Amino acid sequence: MMADIKLKSLAEVAVIRQACQIVARALEEMARQVKPGVTTGDLDNFAEKLIREAGAEPVFIGYRGYRHATCISVNEEIVHGIPGSRVLQEGDIVSLDVGSRYHGYCGDTAATVAVGKINAKAARLLRTTKEALRAAIRQAQPGKHLGDISAAIQRVAEAKGYSVVRELYGHGVGVELHEDPLVPNFGRIGEGPLLKAGMVLAVEPMLNVGTWRIKTLNDGWTVVTTDRQLSCHFEHTIFINESGPEILTKRTTDG
Ligand code: MF3
Ligand code: CO
Ligand code: CO
Repeated sequence: MMADIKLKSLAEVAVIRQACQIVARALEEMARQVKPGVTTGDLDNFAEKLIREAGAEPVFIGYRGYRHATCISVNEEIVHGIPGSRVLQEGDIVSLDVGSRYHGYCGDTAATVAVGKINAKAARLLRTTKEALRAAIRQAQPGKHLGDISAAIQRVAEAKGYSVVRELYGHGVGVELHEDPLVPNFGRIGEGPLLKAGMVLAVEPMLNVGTWRIKTLNDGWTVVTTDRQLSCHFEHTIFINESGPEILTKRTTDG
């Protein structure tokens, strides 16, 4: 069922690393602008400018007809929120997802951040999703299986009482933003394809406070939880090196 997973040369990874560093920096700078009163459209414009100034293209623009450089998803929105006139409010959580293509190769990263002061329930969700991503990345080693990554996300999430989104996945990254394989946020240890040095994957846990069930709004993009409870999303593009995982979209602050 799974098509073949393309292994990248070190020369290709060197370019992917640059595309990834551009989005990591854009995300970091964008997160710094998040505060009550800012609109999601302002954040998107800011990120687009940073991506272009770095000499890259915002790869989300034109992707299946999408028209913005970033996806910005607030509270019960899981992913693919469309930036616009929405004003962020104190206590919101906001997921920022940024992609670029640089010299033909892509990078993809996301983080959920607090708007002003958030409550303990929201803070715990953010902490746990970040922890799920860290645990998953630790499994990204030659000789392990894709299911080890997936199982790590599910284990961390469910141990804290959260559900994982089942209909949206991480993915390979390279010339295309989305390449094989799909990287599920649930699974079993030892299952799925063998991980090999040279793979580049976007690992992106999406954790929900309530149900795992999702729905797409009438705008055709925004994915929300059906029970409208909070959701959180963190994403890194990683390279599986001989010696273990390298986080290509690592930020200088906050992992
Ligand atoms: N960045 C998303 C992902 O993590 C994909 C966004 S596609 C877009 O895979 F068209 F919505 F931008
Ligand atoms: Co993304
Ligand atoms: Co992605």
